[in-house]
Formats: sequence, structure tokens, C-alpha cells
Amino acid sequence: MKYFIDIIVGARPNFIKAVAVIKALDSINRKSFQIDYRLVHTGQHYDNSMSGSFFDQLKIRKPDFNLEVGSGTQASQTGEIMVKYENLLTSRAPQMCMVFGDVTSTMACAITAKKCLIPVSHVEAGIRSGDMSMPEEINRIVTDSVSDYFFTTSEYATNNLLNSGAEKEKVFFVGNTMIDTLLDNQRKFVPPKLWIDYNLSAKEFIVLTLHRPSNVDQESTLKKKIFAIAAGVKNLKVIFPVHPRTAKIVNSLKDLPRNIILSEPLPYFEFNYLVNNSKAVVTDSGGITEETTVMGVPCVTLRDSTERPETVSVGTNELVGSKSSSLKKYLDLLLNGNWKHGSIPELWDGKTGSRIVTHLTQILRQRN
Ligand code: UD1
Repeated sequence: MKYFIDIIVGARPNFIKAVAVIKALDSINRKSFQIDYRLVHTGQHYDNSMSGSFFDQLKIRKPDFNLEVGSGTQASQTGEIMVKYENLLTSRAPQMCMVFGDVTSTMACAITAKKCLIPVSHVEAGIRSGDMSMPEEINRIVTDSVSDYFFTTSEYATNNLLNSGAEKEKVFFVGNTMIDTLLDNQRKFVPPKLWIDYNLSAKEFIVLTLHRPSNVDQESTLKKKIFAIAAGVKNLKVIFPVHPRTAKIVNSLKDLPRNIILSEPLPYFEFNYLVNNSKAVVTDSGGITEETTVMGVPCVTLRDSTERPETVSVGTNELVGSKSSSLKKYLDLLLNGNWKHGSIPELWDGKTGSRIVTHLTQILRQRN
């Protein structure tokens, strides 16, 4: 019996998460052809630095369909993805739509599939920050509210789903696909060109990433943060690969501190080489807090809440809040060598993609 599903990707973190499931699907299909899939790229991220380089490095096959929505407001992206994905579903309906994470594309495709009576499975379901000012939190809640099957990264996420009424038999604690990809590729990490250009040495620099609207959409907030970080890490260099959303303001800032080194967004292998060799990462990303936990690299998160509490309770992450003034205490801890040692959360072992495909096969068998 052959099954047919859609795998949805749209933005940078989706590519990293989905490839683990794609590899596991390809692997079972090589043994006995079981699950045919259509790889659908919404086009939310579209340029080489945010999309193309991830397909090249992670060897993800060319998408079967690219909805080419491109940039826009969240409502316009959501609407356009829904209209275009609905057309695709009308031309051929899959037996399952699988979505990943919490980006606009995740929510838009989940709603569309569900309205077309196609079951939805959500990878990285159930995480919650409790902060409804984050677009991702709305995406998580809406996506989970229309999903039929839930694959979770932690018991915390599983409990959130059960407490909100999800059926126990449809929630699967499987681990973290982002970590599958990290472990699978770590031997391929390579230094970026700026390693030589700026004469970097291991553990003698900081990596900085910022892209949350609350941190980067206002010039005064962003400037205060960058200056506080540059001063707080004393003479250490700060490598700052700038997300396109952040670039709009950073490029207009004058007289940045001398230890701030700006770069384009880096490809996966180069970025993770830097992270793995850094003294610490300062970030407002969620996914990076998971990767630093597994690499054992201290991580300073510039947010008041996290949807990934295990990166703090088990891993190397600390939430320092969104105020620049609270940074100093944590940077001092770091510079004095007093950062906590973390360990690896349960089931973040590189085998999550296979576990998902095992459950998926059973689900499809039961339904059809
Ligand atoms: C999105 C996700 C966020 C994720 C992040 C990873 C949502 C709500 N947010 O945020 O959760 O952590 O991706 O990067 O889905 N742009 C380019 N090239 C591209 C894509 C975007 O230059 O290939 C620029 C555009 O000017 C666009 C801006 O980046 O307006 C923001 O892109 P968008 O997809 O709207 O959201 P992100 O901030 O990237």
C-alpha cells in the first residue's frame, strides 16, 4: 500500500527541521516504497542566504511546488499561502499534511488543509511561551488547534497539549528534529571566510543573532541592545550575522562599537562552526537555544519568556529578559567563567526523524 502526504516548508528553521523527516522517509522508501511525499515550499523565505543555501548544504531535493509568496505583511503572506495551497490541494489531495514549527507558513497551510478535510500533523507541537505579542505564539496555538496528530520535543509540550484537550493517543513525544540535523551534519561544519578575515580563535568571540520584531523593529531599542552587548563583553569580538529584517535598521546605524562585526546571514555549516567555537551566543532565537544546549555552548537569551524551558532547566540557556540593563550580570558570569554546565534533554538523540516516520506509518495504516 502506498501513501501520499504533503511536507510543508516555508522559512529557514523549517528547512532544518523537515530534512530529518525527509531523510527518514527516503530511507524507509528505499527498503520498501511506502510513503510518497510532495515537498511544498511556500516561498516565505526565498533568497539564497535564507533558503537556497540550506537546500544545497543539507541536500534537500528541489521542492515539487513553490508557492512563491515572498515578503509581505503577515496577513498578506497568510492569505496568499492559503489561496495557493488550496489550489494545490484541489489538484491532488494528500492523505496527510505535515507542518513544522511556528512560522506563518505553518499556520496558513495547517488551516487550509484542515478546511479541505485533510488531516494535519504538527512537528514541534505544544510549545508555548505564554507571550501573545509574538506572532509565533499565535501560530503555535492556531496550528495546534486544527492539528490531528502532534509530535513533541519535550514532556512539557506534551503536557500543554493534554491540558488543552488533545487526545493522549494522538500526541507523540519523539524528540527534536532540529537536533537530528545538527548531529547528522556536525562533521561538515566549516569556518566562514570572516574567520580568517578577522583572525578569530576558538572561544574568544561571541555570536549574536537578533530578529524578533520586538527587538529589531525600533531603531532606539536595537541600538541600545547592540551597545550594551558590545560593552558587556569587554574586548571580545561580537560576530553578528544580520537577519534581513534586522538589516533594515542596522545598516542605517552610525558609529557601531568597534568590536561588532556585521555579516550577511551565514549558511548552516558556517554558522554552526562559529557557534560551536564561540565563547557564548547572545540571541533572541528559539531554535538556537536548542542547538547551543546540545553543543554545550553558553547561551544568553534576550527575551522575557521561552517556549523551550528545557533549554534553561536542563541546557546552557539563561533568559536575561528584554531589558538591556539586565544583561551585565549575565555577561559578567560568562566572562568570569561561572556559566552553568548543561546536559542534553531527553530524546534529543538524533533519531527523532525515524521515530516520527514510524508513528506516521502506523497512523496512515490505521486511517486508510
Ligand atoms: C520568520 C518567522 C520566525 C523565524 C524566522 C527565521 C514568522 C512569523 N516568523 O521571521 O519565526 O524565526 O523567520 O528566519 O513566520 N526577507 C529577505 N529574504 C528572504 C526572506 C525574507 O530579505 O528570503 C526579508 C523581507 O524583507 C521580509 C523580512 O525579511 O520582510 C522578514 O521576513 P518574514 O518571513 O516576514 O519573517 P522573519 O522575520 O524572517
